[in-house]
Amino acid sequence: MSDKKTGILLLSHGSRLDDGEEVIKAYKEMFAEEFPEMPVEYGFMEIRKPGIPETINKLTSENDLEKIVVVPVFVAHGLHTKRDIPELLGIESDFDEESVSGGHHHHHHHGHDHGHGHHHHHHHDHDEETFEFDGEIVLTDPLGIDPRLYEIIKDRVSDNL
Ligand code: NI
Repeated sequence: MSDKKTGILLLSHGSRLDDGEEVIKAYKEMFAEEFPEMPVEYGFMEIRKPGIPETINKLTSENDLEKIVVVPVFVAHGLHTKRDIPELLGIESDFDEESVSGGHHHHHHHGHDHGHGHHHHHHHDHDEETFEFDGEIVLTDPLGIDPRLYEIIKDRVSDNL
């Protein structure tokens, strides 16, 4: 029987503020406590470190992995989960540029604009860390539509009535 393991990467968007890291780090610690045999790390797709390459390198340097399951801790699919994250992970994506609504879309690798300022993908920078992994990388769906999340929405409302 193989000793090779599956590693888990909980992926957050990344922010200049610390709040997002506190959240994703807390989920990572909860997961590690419940599944101590399963290597788990958290990382960010952009703006903040550790990024995807750093996190994958940490997982693979400390563990003999055959597979990495990447969970985008985002509420819904978007360009990041459909296009940018697969690209950063170096995996196939069925993303169709024609599906982007709102008219002509420019695909550019060096940054994007959420409408509230620019932030950038740095994976084309020469000093950017890279990773190599011969195993399988699986990108899961985001959190999506789930009654458990709906309960939280109701809590937020009822707490403020
Ligand atoms: Ni973004």
